[in-house]
Amino acid sequence: MQAADIDSDFPSMVIVDDVEMVLCRSDDGFFALGNICSHAYARLSDGHTEGNQIFCPLHQGSFDIRTGEAIASPCYEPVASYPTKVEDGVVFVCPAARAAATP
Ligand code: FES
Repeated sequence: MQAADIDSDFPSMVIVDDVEMVLCRSDDGFFALGNICSHAYARLSDGHTEGNQIFCPLHQGSFDIRTGEAIASPCYEPVASYPTKVEDGVVFVCPAARAAATP
């Protein structure tokens, strides 16, 4: 996905090798997480981001976009985190190298 198309407030859903992810942008870079909230079934890509936090649209729990760690209740379990890199203005995600457990 083009880096310029990734909004810093409203993340984007992408599917890479059949893995559904949410792509986020902050001042620290581009980050990819598993798109399904670890609390219940909601797509994080339907939520919003503030700095390095992404907020779930259903109950407003939040996660750290850099790691997938849960930050705010009712989320306690992490979501998967995927390495990203930017080349020539394009954001690439590696779906195989997960940095956190998938809920
Ligand atoms: S489903 Fe995400 S906080 Fe409840």
